[in-house]
Amino acid sequence: MNSPIIALDFPTMEEAQGFLEQFQEPLFVKVGMELFYKEGSQAVRKLTESGHRVFLDLKLHDIPNTVERAMRSLAPLGIEMLNVHAAGGLEMMKAAKRGLEGSGTKLIAVTQLTSTDDEQMRREQLIDRPLPESVVHYAELAKEAGLDGVVCSVSEAQAIGEACGTGFIRLTPGIRPGNESHDQKRTATPAEALKAGATHIVVGRAVTQAADPAASYRSIARQWKGLEQ
Ligand code: C5P
Repeated sequence: MNSPIIALDFPTMEEAQGFLEQFQEPLFVKVGMELFYKEGSQAVRKLTESGHRVFLDLKLHDIPNTVERAMRSLAPLGIEMLNVHAAGGLEMMKAAKRGLEGSGTKLIAVTQLTSTDDEQMRREQLIDRPLPESVVHYAELAKEAGLDGVVCSVSEAQAIGEACGTGFIRLTPGIRPGNESHDQKRTATPAEALKAGATHIVVGRAVTQAADPAASYRSIARQWKGLEQ
């Protein structure tokens, strides 16, 4: 069972470190564009050297050669997991995987962003299929490219597991222990994510903005392990 992944959505490394100091143990963290573009790969190195497990959420999407070379730059950082957009195509995903060869870094794909809905997919992408079908199709493409899994919503986790196997990573953001939704349209609790077959959960504000982040983290981790409802 993987620890909940905490989204380090802070504008500076100083703030991220202030947050991390409230915990006794190293965490599994997600570094996104906000922190990475501000502080760069040095910040990632600092985190991995301090024992934190890092999921670097940069969602790469470019021509295969460029993505492969970007991955080669990221491979030495000791990152546990990285991601690309499945919409970049089979060849791009294979190239990304090649770029990480020898690093041990896992690679997952974003299928349809959870901010995209059926209507937008039809109008903007000219995809005339239901959204869950597109998501599963992209997950299968990611699997064919040799990727380790996908980012998905809790409502898609089960269908992806059936199509791609239970060993395929289904990493789900939008996790809340209660009914606070912030700006997320579809949220789920850690217990619901567990039941749906998610393999990893990403939690941001429910921990980072909590009055007592360490207590909130512990409670979420217990729910995720099925020890608490
Ligand atoms: O604060 P909250 O728990 O909503 O944060 C969720 C994190 O997961 C944010 O960093 C957000 O960018 C990211 N994310 C998401 N939905 C996706 C992919 C990533 O919320 N589909």
